[in-house]
Amino acid sequence: MTSGPQTAEQQPDHYDAFAEAYARANEHGLFNRWYARPAVLDLLGDVAGRRILDAGCGAGPLVADLTERGARVAGFDASPAMIGLARRRLGEEADLQVADLTRSLPYLDEAFDDAVAVLVLHYLQDWSRPLTELARVLKPGGRLVVVINHPVIPPVMYPDVNYFATVPNAEEYDFDGVGATLTIWYRSLSAMSESFTAAGFRIAAIAEPPVAPDTPPELLPDSESDPTRFIGFIFFSLEKAS
Ligand SMILES: C[S@@+](CC[C@H](N)C(=O)[O-])C[C@H]1O[C@@H](n2cnc3c(N)ncnc32)[C@H](O)[C@@H]1O
Repeated sequence: MTSGPQTAEQQPDHYDAFAEAYARANEHGLFNRWYARPAVLDLLGDVAGRRILDAGCGAGPLVADLTERGARVAGFDASPAMIGLARRRLGEEADLQVADLTRSLPYLDEAFDDAVAVLVLHYLQDWSRPLTELARVLKPGGRLVVVINHPVIPPVMYPDVNYFATVPNAEEYDFDGVGATLTIWYRSLSAMSESFTAAGFRIAAIAEPPVAPDTPPELLPDSESDPTRFIGFIFFSLEKAS
């Protein structure tokens, strides 16, 4: 485990450096196309007519999926290159902005019915302002779906790490042949729960879902038990207190 910086702009692993490769890998890869996105769509259910914010939207695959299901979606991302790719996918009229989840968000109070933060909060050491901002832009009773790396990954992979500490870990990834180092801030389940509550959310559901039923079998890991379930991400459906 390593020490690391805080905001997206300060991070050497800022997504601009490998935006195209990440977007290609995300489009069809097991972890995004067949695991995270279907599970988020399941948690949200019927979104027709709902106004949804995608925080850290990347190249916009979930914005596209939700729009296709009848939602009115806005997205933002700290990486101008990722927002450029999202614009290429969704068109110039799409509601997309470059913005940083660690700062004030450029949206009015109670502007959204739901929000999603998929694989973005784990880049941040301090969740208090990001979660407070997400709560601010949600209507009372609005939902926030959060997806992050599973908190038991460090104790399983790095037995010397203190599970109860909030610690950064620099991890090497390969995105469609392009290498990238990402700094993930791990924290305990109770630390997550305390941050959600402090920002005015209650946990409505925690999910550890299998991959989508139509996942191509050749993408699944070798496993003697059940290859459709593995410890990858943890999914939260939160509700803003009314
Ligand atoms: C793993 S990608 C996930 C993209 C998208 N949510 C998805 O699931 O396809 C993480 C995204 O979070 C963005 N990001 C990282 N830190 C951010 C921050 N502080 N504010 C906004 N976006 C951030 C990155 O630029 C990147 O596009």
